Amino acid sequence: MPHIHEDYLTAVQDLARRYQPKRILKTDCWNEADGDTPIANVIGAECVEIDSDCVQRAQSKFPGLVATVGDIRVMPYENKIFDMLVDLSTIDHMFDYQVALDEYVRVTKDGGVVYIVVWISADPCDYDREDGSHFDPTGKYRQYYFSEEKFLGSLNRTFKSVIHGVFHHFKGVRTLHWFECVV
Ligand SMILES: C[S@@+](CC[C@H](N)C(=O)[O-])C[C@H]1O[C@@H](n2cnc3c(N)ncnc32)[C@H](O)[C@@H]1O
Repeated sequence: MPHIHEDYLTAVQDLARRYQPKRILKTDCWNEADGDTPIANVIGAECVEIDSDCVQRAQSKFPGLVATVGDIRVMPYENKIFDMLVDLSTIDHMFDYQVALDEYVRVTKDGGVVYIVVWISADPCDYDREDGSHFDPTGKYRQYYFSEEKFLGSLNRTFKSVIHGVFHHFKGVRTLHWFECVV
C-alpha cells in the first residue's frame, strides 16, 4: 500500500495533466521541509506557509523553491493569479476555514482548480475540537476533524463545482477526503 503522501502526489500530478496550469500554489511547505515527498518541487508549485522556520528548512533543502511566509486566511498575493491551488491538509488546521476558502477563490483564476484534502470524521464528538496528539498552543499544527456534511456544504456554496472522493487511508472513524473544486 503506497504512503499517503505518494497518493497525494499521484492525485496532484493527474490534476496538473488535466488542467495544464501555468502557475500553481501549494499551501504549507511541511512536505518539502520535513516530509518525504516534496510535492511542490515535483509539480513546480510555489508555497505559502505560516511558519517561517518551516519555510527556511524547505528552502535550505530546495534552494530553488519559491516559498512565502504567510497565512492562508490573508494570502500575500494579488487577485486571480494562480491556475491551480493545492491544499493537502492545511485548511483542517483551523476553525475558521471559510475565510481561507474565500481567499482560495480570490487568488485562483476563474475556471482554475482548487484541490483540497481534509480529515473528515464520522464521530460528531470530533467536530470543532483539536486532537490532543497534535496539540500546539500556537495553533499552527493543531488538527481539526470536519463534518463531511458541513464542509461539503461550504465548498458547494463557495465553488462552481465540486467533485468529492475518499483516500483509502483510515484512522478509526476518521477518513481523508479529497475535493476537486472549480472556481
Ligand atoms: C502538520 S502539516 C500537515 C500538512 C501536510 N501538507 C501534509 O501533507 O500532511 C500542517 C502545515 O500547515 C501549516 N499551517 C498551519 N496553519 C497555517 C495557515 N494558517 N497558513 C499557512 N500555513 C499553515 C503548518 O505550519 C504546517 O506546516
